Amino acid sequence: MCGIFAYLNYMVPRSRGYIIDALIKALKRLEYRGYDSAGIAYDGDDNTCIIRNKGKVGALEKAVKAHNIDYDKEFDKHVGIAHTRWATHGIPSEVNSHPQRSGENNEFSVVHNGICTNYKDIKQFLLNKGYTFESETDTEVIVKMVRYFYETMKKDDGSDVDFRVIIEKVVHQLEGAFALVFKSSHYPDEIVAARRGSPLLIGVKSSSKITTDQIPILYDNQMTVNLSSSTTFRRNESTMNLFAEVDAEVEYYFASDASAVIEYTNRVIFLEDDDVAAVSNGALSIHRIHRSGSDPSHRDVATLKMELQQIMKGNFKAFMQKEIFEQPESVVNTMRGRIDFDNNTVVLGGIKSHIHDIKRCRRLIFIACGTSYHSTVATRQLLEELTELPVMVELASDFLDRRTPIFRDDVCFFVSQSGETADTLMALKYCKERGALNVGITNTVGSSISRDTHCGVHINAGPEIGVASTKAYTSQFVAIVLFALMMSEDRISMQSRRQEIIKGLQELPAKIKEILDMDSEIEQLAKELYQQKSLLLMGRGYNYATCLEGALKVKEITYMHSEGILAGELKHGPLALVDKAMPVIMIVMRDKVYSKCQNALQQVVARHGRPVVICCKGDTATAKEAFKAIEIPETIDCLQGILSIIPLQLLAFHVATLRGFDVDFPRNLAKSVTVE
Ligand code: F6R
Repeated sequence: MCGIFAYLNYMVPRSRGYIIDALIKALKRLEYRGYDSAGIAYDGDDNTCIIRNKGKVGALEKAVKAHNIDYDKEFDKHVGIAHTRWATHGIPSEVNSHPQRSGENNEFSVVHNGICTNYKDIKQFLLNKGYTFESETDTEVIVKMVRYFYETMKKDDGSDVDFRVIIEKVVHQLEGAFALVFKSSHYPDEIVAARRGSPLLIGVKSSSKITTDQIPILYDNQMTVNLSSSTTFRRNESTMNLFAEVDAEVEYYFASDASAVIEYTNRVIFLEDDDVAAVSNGALSIHRIHRSGSDPSHRDVATLKMELQQIMKGNFKAFMQKEIFEQPESVVNTMRGRIDFDNNTVVLGGIKSHIHDIKRCRRLIFIACGTSYHSTVATRQLLEELTELPVMVELASDFLDRRTPIFRDDVCFFVSQSGETADTLMALKYCKERGALNVGITNTVGSSISRDTHCGVHINAGPEIGVASTKAYTSQFVAIVLFALMMSEDRISMQSRRQEIIKGLQELPAKIKEILDMDSEIEQLAKELYQQKSLLLMGRGYNYATCLEGALKVKEITYMHSEGILAGELKHGPLALVDKAMPVIMIVMRDKVYSKCQNALQQVVARHGRPVVICCKGDTATAKEAFKAIEIPETIDCLQGILSIIPLQLLAFHVATLRGFDVDFPRNLAKSVTVE
């Protein structure tokens, strides 16, 4: 996830200072989408100036201030583009930041969200043509290709073809998902944008009142629609595309989400996949890369009525809910580019060069807090199975309290969404002093943990705003599974198990979606439970961690007492809590502890308990013993915990909402616990 913003003023005089401020301000709004580096491009005195910086937008702002810029210079027409990045290809650094550029004096520049999957092929093509590259990004390949087509598509008389035509040619070559906005010194005052798979919208602010709610894409007739008294959108005969003619002052705001434009205008056009939008001479035109029978006939000019916070949340009531629903995508982002599904291989680039040492270590020690700790409990069994090494999982605070002995041949993993948790950082310092090899597993590029470890894995779940961690948990889970797979690559005896797991990973997004579709069923369960004082969660084996994590979610946002209980321990004490009034949720999956879980279920039922059971779809034997059954899709045993936590995340969310609490900001808690 990254953030894009671009601003074009046409016949609206603006100072350079105003323009740069607008770019920076918008990036601050978009920062919640990613923040490992940021950059802007604007018109200098005779070329395009690009300022980029590693770190948050605040660091970019400082870097801009350090430049000697004539802020007072006025522009009647100007294009500025800006970007805040969440690294995918290439580490966070100035050179990998956007805007990426090509040509002398930044002739072409681009900001990009998404991933171009065939960039290596295109790069090779351009290398063969003599192009050189300064960054590791897929985006640089795109902007170099723009330069290539600019040169090769010139008309017979040597004049340039339209900027939009070049970009359409480029976009035709791209595979993957993208939102792109281009600027060029060859086409001053023009902007071209394209999207496929990544959101992009255009805010329009005109000196005249915009009166229409729809902009037809008029493929087959000659209709004309008045957008305002002085702005007309009509069909352009030659391109069969939407065309806008503007004879008034107008400002356009291109952005990856509405949070960046809402303070300027509430009139926006959401681009669709395969749209190319261009502004030339102040006129906006929307073109289609591919034409099909099902092409929409118009683009709405929507009127945004939402508050800023609401826009950032989309249609969700809370960030936590949004983040729960992002999981089909976030788990894919964790796996993206790391698994070769055809050859059953896994490469984690960040630890590749240390894997030899890791394999020869004395033991693997996973250290974390809260939810991050639970992800290590959830994956410990698989780690032990695939690495055949002793695996310890440690709560950072307890690990430090015990002054756990650490040796030079230990490998210590620090798992942290924020990468800034004080307890985990202190444990890292402790292990560093003792000479262990330290590995970070974080969601935050550039965080203290990712900087202070020898190597690491970014889980790429995208920014998590809700204090209760959800998508980071499932992505940490997936990242550790990937590590276990990488460690066992050369073990012939493990190949069929590895194949099953890789297949299971591939099927995860669809199965997560299936569970998210059960949201109303889970909301109904929440209605039955929300007035209770306590909730016990029981399970064992791979799903013990699910119980711990589910109980933590319930506690932290509903303020209800909740406990995750290892079902094997029931008879050693917790069974005394069970009666017909005590709400109990049991996780019974068809894995190696299935019959043991069924025994536990019998024990609870025999004490007049009325357990709600989370079980596999079609498991009627379990469902019929339960007071109520939530049947979820089945996957391979070691991945089942990624699916079984989702109903519990949804349940905690609905219970908290019904109890009237602020789900995103639970009392007494902070997203990043930077004090011991
Ligand atoms: C619970 C939660 C916390 C964090 C813990 C560690 O929903 O979010 O328990 O998991 O504070 O934080 P990180 O992962 O940032 O180190």
